[in-house]
Amino acid sequence: MTNTLLILPGDGIGPEVMAEVTRIIDWFGDKRGLAFDVTEDLVGGAAYDVHGVPLSDATMAKAQEVDAVLLGAVGGPKYDDLDFSVKPERGLLRLRKEMDLYANLRPAQCFDALADFSSLKRDVVSGLDIMIVRELTSGIYFGEPRGIIEEGGQRVGINTQRYTEAEIDRVARSAFELARKRGNKVCSMEKANVMESGILWREVVQRVHDADYPDVELSHMYADAGGMQLCRWPKQFDVIVTDNLFGDLLSDVAAMLTGSLGMLPSASLGAPMENGRPKALYEPVHGSAPDIAGQGKANPCACVLSFAMALRYSFDQGEEATRLEQAVEKVLADGVRTADLMQAEGGTPATTAQMGDAILAALD
Ligand code: NAI
Ligand code: MG
Repeated sequence: MTNTLLILPGDGIGPEVMAEVTRIIDWFGDKRGLAFDVTEDLVGGAAYDVHGVPLSDATMAKAQEVDAVLLGAVGGPKYDDLDFSVKPERGLLRLRKEMDLYANLRPAQCFDALADFSSLKRDVVSGLDIMIVRELTSGIYFGEPRGIIEEGGQRVGINTQRYTEAEIDRVARSAFELARKRGNKVCSMEKANVMESGILWREVVQRVHDADYPDVELSHMYADAGGMQLCRWPKQFDVIVTDNLFGDLLSDVAAMLTGSLGMLPSASLGAPMENGRPKALYEPVHGSAPDIAGQGKANPCACVLSFAMALRYSFDQGEEATRLEQAVEKVLADGVRTADLMQAEGGTPATTAQMGDAILAALD
């Protein structure tokens, strides 16, 4: 099977961090015989500058065809006054919507060398490797009715939590598939004690499990208790699957267990394509960081680790993904630090390219 990849560097530090990932992709081709058919294109402000829209139809069509899209970041002050319809972020939203990426994957992974960055004790986070799967296309952010209405002489704000069986079913499957490539354990979180949508969520997740994934260990937890457990002893989890709202909160909490924005990758997955691979978009959690753009200061690790996720979840190269993650781990253990990873003790920070050099050297 060929491996097709669409690279969209975007704006600000996006192209800077993506340049390092491109070198790493080439390394896998040269040294591991893992060839990628790579196309590079524009998104966000970079696309607006050329096409007058933040994502052209041609780029959208290409994204629908490839095995994986790897995106840097979009946005920046230059585009702040643009009309809402052509803002850089709209390019990213269009990708997510038209590819129907319903499972948002946010790992919380603690690199031992950075354990002291956490607000939690070292032994609580050291070696942590969990994955939050957040349903991304439904739930309370989209449910009808919604709005602010007049009622009995006062205004009432309304949002509706709404999930169909099919929506729960498909995100549950994403979580179980992932678990099989990791620690084989899923914890599903909702509030079935107070919400009917939570009762249905629990039922459907259990049914999908019993029918098609009985080999995966499944547990259920109320989302508020889950939040407590994440802070108390996060290593009890492998994959957590939850709805859009709880996932928004829990993934941000989990991310901060392990530290810097410059280290956080993500993936958004949709339905399986004809070749069995899911529709997929990989991107760092951080934005375009205009305050440091163009200065060679950006930490490329979040984008590098996003590519590692692509290796594991789109290209079935779990061992190569681990190889890349271990290279990042080694570089950090050797004390190589971009500015965002330095604490008060000082020293000269590594540049984006030096961090890339060090990761390549560690891979060798
Ligand atoms: P941001 O994530 O770009 O930056 C927040 C802070 O973290 C800044 O101080 C930045 O220098 C630092 N930072 C972020 N990534 C870093 C890295 N890889 N290495 C070192 N330091 C890093 O968020 P902010 O400032 O709120 O937004 C800036 C622009 O990015 C805005 O236009 C925003 O709309 C856009 N944005 C885009 C996102 C995306 O493309 N997915 C996500 C978030 C924001
Ligand atoms: Mg959030």
